[in-house]
Amino acid sequence: MFQVADQTKKPLTMTIIGGVDKDGNADAQDRIDISRGEIIGIVGPTGSGKSTLIADIEQFAQGDTPSCRRILINGEPPDSQQRNDPRKKLVAQLSQNMHFLADMSVCEFLRMHAKSRGKDPGLASKVIELANTLTGEPIDPGHHLTILSGGQSRALMTADIAVISDSPIVLIDEIENAGIKKQEALRLLAGEGKIVIVVTHDPMLALMASRRIVMKNGGMTKIISTSKQEHSVFKDIEKVDGWLTGLRETIRQGEVVA
Ligand SMILES: Nc1ncnc2c1ncn2[C@@H]1O[C@H](COP(=O)(O)OP(=O)(O)OP(=O)(O)O)[C@@H](O)[C@H]1O
Ligand SMILES: [Mg+2]
Repeated sequence: MFQVADQTKKPLTMTIIGGVDKDGNADAQDRIDISRGEIIGIVGPTGSGKSTLIADIEQFAQGDTPSCRRILINGEPPDSQQRNDPRKKLVAQLSQNMHFLADMSVCEFLRMHAKSRGKDPGLASKVIELANTLTGEPIDPGHHLTILSGGQSRALMTADIAVISDSPIVLIDEIENAGIKKQEALRLLAGEGKIVIVVTHDPMLALMASRRIVMKNGGMTKIISTSKQEHSVFKDIEKVDGWLTGLRETIRQGEVVA
């Protein structure tokens, strides 16, 4: 596995303090504590408030959003440096659409990002190497950001968050159909000691999470801990997924399925 230099992994707990749903009723779950290395799913029908909860975390809501929720770090509201200084930033977001603001090469972009974080620009090659373990279509350091496919962009951002960004909290809103090895991406981030919060209806990802928050009408209605049975279903799904991935690759390569 990749050893990431100078990543300080101080203990960290993120707490979501419940607020209200769309009708102003209190969240049934009034407090959720999450530690490093945990993967937490957010599930619920369309319009139930999943992206809103992600946004609450992203901006460290302090009762100042429509949900009135509060987000605490180690029991306290984060200070303004943690909220705003890019080197101290606690949250990284892997968004639904990757829009790169500048058209530069992958290598230039990564070196610039490493420098802005006060890190060795040489980490760029490590990021690309790692990203290429997550996507079927290899990324070349000289590729321009704007020509990357959706899967390549997400793989690159995932590896970038794992290696360059120290942000201990990673938010992912809908990673399905992303064209990257999803469970490996989550495993990588959690393995780096990050708190991974993922909105998903993909049974494999939802069951990979240790717990999932169930949203309804804008409220956090319950938290389900993944049971042993569910975990064994996850193992089965993972096997089927591996089999399908293999078949897909065979067909992509123009070969015949035996
Ligand atoms: N607790 C809340 N209080 C007030 N408004 C809310 C709350 N939660 C969600 N909403 C509003 O409900 C609408 C739908 O919420 P949101 O986009 O978060 O749903 P979603 O579960 O992400 O849906 P989708 O699956 O379609 O992405 C938004 O306009 C949002 O502002
Ligand atoms: Mg949404």
